[in-house]
Amino acid sequence: MIELKGIKKSFGTLQVLKDIDLNIEKGEVVSIVGPSGAGKTTLLQIMGTLDKADSGSVIIKGTDVSKLAEKELSAFRNKQIGFVFQFHQLLPEFTAMENIMIPALIAGESASIAKKKALDILDMLGLKDRASHKPAELSGGEKQRVAVGRALINNPSVILADEPSGSLDTVNKQELHQLFFNLRNKLNQTFVIVTHDENLAKLTDRIIHLLDGRISGELS
Ligand SMILES: Nc1ncnc2c1ncn2[C@@H]1O[C@H](COP(=O)(O)OP(=O)(O)OP(=O)(O)O)[C@@H](O)[C@H]1O
Ligand SMILES: [Mg+2]
Repeated sequence: MIELKGIKKSFGTLQVLKDIDLNIEKGEVVSIVGPSGAGKTTLLQIMGTLDKADSGSVIIKGTDVSKLAEKELSAFRNKQIGFVFQFHQLLPEFTAMENIMIPALIAGESASIAKKKALDILDMLGLKDRASHKPAELSGGEKQRVAVGRALINNPSVILADEPSGSLDTVNKQELHQLFFNLRNKLNQTFVIVTHDENLAKLTDRIIHLLDGRISGELS
């Protein structure tokens, strides 16, 4: 479903990704691990069309994203890719429900449909009674779950998560990790997760080891 072929990326003279090939199937939960500076975030940003490779191709659900013009690419990204970052990046002046609604509104959904979808998602995440809370009124774990809800609303092909539990305590970490697998089981949702958390990596279907810009090993 996601095909990366011959991905190379440099920043100035620093070659960060050196010929990466990677295929991810629908419904897989894949983790990417490796030391700091190995190129994990760079790879995820390229997979998520937020950054461009110098060479190689990124094919998502049959679409070669390098062939899309800027406007088509943002529409494609909005529809097909959900993002979860280490720090929730929710908009502080909007409620949990509104934060989840935003990608649906951007996709052209009516406010009433977006609201209904957001409330269904909040319910599924066990956050129904937090719908009208703003981020400052949510716990760290709740904020990350809202961020997952925002990633889910357009029913994306894949959710890309960069250190999603990096700022959470043990209990909230485990809860968030469990949520990923629940969503996979329930919705067949695909996840690619960059993590330093060994416990999370061990739970995933496949662990991709990135070292010095190359895939140094794969464990399933
Ligand atoms: N925009 C940029 N300009 C210049 N260098 C960059 C840029 N983004 C990343 N780099 C460099 O590329 C290398 C890989 O960075 P990347 O963020 O992908 O690493 P990472 O594996 O995600 O590390 P971490 O585990 O610390 O998040 C690093 O040496 C980094 O300094
Ligand atoms: Mg990183």
